[in-house]
Amino acid sequence: MDTIKRIWGLMKPYKKHMIGGLILQTVVIVATLIKPYITKFIVDDVIEGGLYDMLIPFCIMIIGLTLLTGGCNFLRSVLYERMSQSAMWDLRTGLYAHLQEMPYEFYDKHRVGEIMSRMTGDIDGVRHLIAFGLIHVYEQGLRFVGAFIFMMTMSWEITLLVLSLTPVIAIMAWLFNKKVRPLFREVREQNATLNTITQENLAGMHVVKAYAQEPFEEERFNKENQKLADMHLKVSWLWSSFVPFMDVLASLCTPIALLGGLLLTIHGNLDIGTMVGITGYIWMLVDPMRQLPNIINMVTNAVTSAEKLFYYVDFGASIKEPENAKTPVEFKGHVVFDHVNFSYGHQPVLKDICLEAKPGETIAVMGATGSGKSTLVTLLGRFYDIQSGSIKIDGIDVRQHALKPLRRQIGYVMQETFLFSDTIADNIRYGNPGGDMERVERSAKVAQATEFIDHMPQGYETVVGERGLGLSGGQKQRTAIARAVMIDPAILILDDSTSAVDMETEYLIQQELKEVLKDRTTFIIAHRISSVKNADQILVLDNGEIAERGTHKELMEKGGIYYQMVMDQMSSAVKVEKEVQ
Ligand SMILES: Nc1ncnc2c1ncn2[C@@H]1O[C@H](COP(=O)(O)OP(=O)(O)O)[C@@H](O)[C@H]1O
Ligand SMILES: [Mg+2]
Repeated sequence: MDTIKRIWGLMKPYKKHMIGGLILQTVVIVATLIKPYITKFIVDDVIEGGLYDMLIPFCIMIIGLTLLTGGCNFLRSVLYERMSQSAMWDLRTGLYAHLQEMPYEFYDKHRVGEIMSRMTGDIDGVRHLIAFGLIHVYEQGLRFVGAFIFMMTMSWEITLLVLSLTPVIAIMAWLFNKKVRPLFREVREQNATLNTITQENLAGMHVVKAYAQEPFEEERFNKENQKLADMHLKVSWLWSSFVPFMDVLASLCTPIALLGGLLLTIHGNLDIGTMVGITGYIWMLVDPMRQLPNIINMVTNAVTSAEKLFYYVDFGASIKEPENAKTPVEFKGHVVFDHVNFSYGHQPVLKDICLEAKPGETIAVMGATGSGKSTLVTLLGRFYDIQSGSIKIDGIDVRQHALKPLRRQIGYVMQETFLFSDTIADNIRYGNPGGDMERVERSAKVAQATEFIDHMPQGYETVVGERGLGLSGGQKQRTAIARAVMIDPAILILDDSTSAVDMETEYLIQQELKEVLKDRTTFIIAHRISSVKNADQILVLDNGEIAERGTHKELMEKGGIYYQMVMDQMSSAVKVEKEVQ
């Protein structure tokens, strides 16, 4: 019921269309209801009563009503199609905008294929209901009531006789609905699963081919595809066994009515004209009952889809900026973590983290994979909310910051580089779309990307494939660094972002960055000692805790984990050198 109310809400802005359509539909039904009445007059007054002059006016009335019905039906379809398309446009654009605002948590939980199938199939399911379903319900309902009233005025005995079958039909419809509803939900889910498999398969096609896993992929797909086919078969089996049953029940109404009518006519309680008129109404009374499974089907389908869509709409209230969100007068990049605890769900990832990065400082974060390095820097842009403690940027808790201005001040080079299928220039100026070419080139220079870009067929205008497939790992990373430099951030985050770049280039990038982002705060996550050695502060994370902190010199003197890492890297370098000799 709640879902239907919300679907109703979608239609509200198009009240005029809706009311117009309902009026047109009412005209159509009234016209349809009048026709059998005219037939009754033709039989009773013209044929039996001998009022032959009335034949032509009656016929003209029937033709006129038919034309009216056709015209109104046409207009109503146009209005409802308009309304449904507009309502869906609203829902689709609204959802898309909403998807942009969804927190990371949402994307951790929902797969791309699933989201895609919601945005297409489910939206269409709801549209179907708005375009055809509701008006259909109204049409059938009104026709039923109208036919009931007309028939009652003609012969209450036959009406009640026909209606005696209604409870049986209603119970059947209810049972059917109960069975088919969960099935529809399963079909929707399965569609989403299939979409996800397809999407992931296509995105990971290089891996599939490299490991020659095409047969495995086919099998995986076929298995789920088979499940979907089975579900469809189950639905259609239910459907096919139910519809004929309903048809038989509905068709029984006519002989029953005729039988009753015959008895009444024989006893002189009913004239022939009324009997003929009644036969014109029986179908109007019976058809809505017969249509019940269709209507249930459509409404159920749409409600199931709408539930999923509204779930998306309702998701994502978790990360919201407060009413009076603050923005510092000037972003300086002063970061303070104060006893921060964070967990994804129930698994604690960061424990009691305290740190301070003064504007212009470089903080290096080291530690084993999974120790929480990426998570730590993700918290700066408030992509997740912490469980306790506080994170302040320029004196304001990130939960008090206006979100977008905050994030615009963070140049985030993520561990996994993502490039859009667009030109290199547009990829670099992604965070600063108005940025001029000169600035793009300057940023590329800082990231040591100029050389390879100049070698590209169309230079900066070269379109890099989906996910930047045309570029090497190191080239992608350098493009991503240029993208971060381009926004001139107050805080720069380099999350393992030079791992695919050779040591010498990495050194050059660092030198350039130091020059350009002199007074900016930098967080650098790296594994090579050479990358972190010159940092103002080195943090060593161990299982979500800061195990050691200090400068390179201090940590070397301490002789702890960091010292051990340095020794390990040196000894493996020496080993390699020896092997080469
Ligand atoms: N989005 C996520 N949802 C749930 N757990 C996560 C998520 N991202 C990372 N983790 C978990 O948090 C821990 C720290 O991950 P991460 O910060 O990526 O470590 P690092 O960058 O040091 O390798 C790991 O155990 C990882 O499995
Ligand atoms: Mg990481």
